Amino acid sequence: KRPAGAPEAKLARPVAKVGVVGAGLMAGQLALVFARQLKVPVVMTDVDQARVDRGVGHVHAEVDRLVAKGRISADAANRTKALVTGSVSKAEFADADFVIEAVFEELAVKKQVLAEVEAVVKPECILATNTSSLSVTAIAQDLAHPERVVGFHFFNPVAVMPLIEVVRAPQTDDAVLATAFALAKGLKKTAVLVKDAPAFVVNRVLLRLMGEVTAAFDEGTPADVADGALAPMGLPMTPFTLAEMVGLPVAQHVAESLHAAFGDRFHVSANQQALIDAGVKGLWAPAADGGREVPESTLALLD
Ligand code: 3HC
Repeated sequence: KRPAGAPEAKLARPVAKVGVVGAGLMAGQLALVFARQLKVPVVMTDVDQARVDRGVGHVHAEVDRLVAKGRISADAANRTKALVTGSVSKAEFADADFVIEAVFEELAVKKQVLAEVEAVVKPECILATNTSSLSVTAIAQDLAHPERVVGFHFFNPVAVMPLIEVVRAPQTDDAVLATAFALAKGLKKTAVLVKDAPAFVVNRVLLRLMGEVTAAFDEGTPADVADGALAPMGLPMTPFTLAEMVGLPVAQHVAESLHAAFGDRFHVSANQQALIDAGVKGLWAPAADGGREVPESTLALLD
């Protein structure tokens, strides 16, 4: 059955090579899922060789972890690893059919990156953005061909979260959209078509929840109490564990975008910003007994 709002599947273009802009945590997860599920070459780029090497190294380490868990054979692991390469040059995207960016969540950065990609790719190459909360229309608007841009929003951890939000901007071409849905199917994900509205659908709901918990924290309830109070509610993860997994700066950016769009319905946490400024990665740290505890640095900020 065709997903609601999706164009006819026969419009989809073949994708034989994928490019990923960025070699960070999200980019690596994307490279792995494309290589593993579509079995096509995936090239990752970043601004310097050290980042590229680290990104490819993370992908290879994750493949080794899958072998150790008995999820894939050694042969499949070697094939997957060989498919994922890295480069500092976007010229590697010249023969790519689909390039997705997963760089810093800042409009100017994403626009710049996609303009650089557009300068080297072939005319029919699709440009996708994994933005969490920025306008896909705005990201695409200064490109020569904004109709080739689509939002393709994954969730953490990419390997296990089953959903992709496909974002259609007003100018997105039907063939581009059809290819996005075909790719999602190849990746064994469920794709839903969402409007190009701030933070789309899932993050809007999540950020209401996270915003209320951080508001309680900002109002003086200790972080572990505000977060832990939700533990019996049947969520797969407590809100702060989730924020730590996606990265506090990403969570903060999404909250800021939603606050800018919808005002006080979305809380931007001063305490969370203080933690980011202090370089704290999360509210929790592994404790010696294997459990988790609030790190000293967090406690100091709370005083
Ligand atoms: N990377 C890869 N695989 C992972 C993983 C990770 N970071 N974390 C867990 N997994 C895998 C495990 O290896 C395991 O796989 P296996 O069955 O092959 O062994 C499987 O997931 C289940 O893991 P566990 O049994 O250890 O743990 P749980 O049952 O608690 O499930 C979870 C883990 C699926 C991550 C679950 O806690 C969950 O659904 N959490 C909520 C995640 C969520 O809401 N994500 C959305 C974040 S918002 C976002 O990303 C948007 C962005 O724009 C900000």
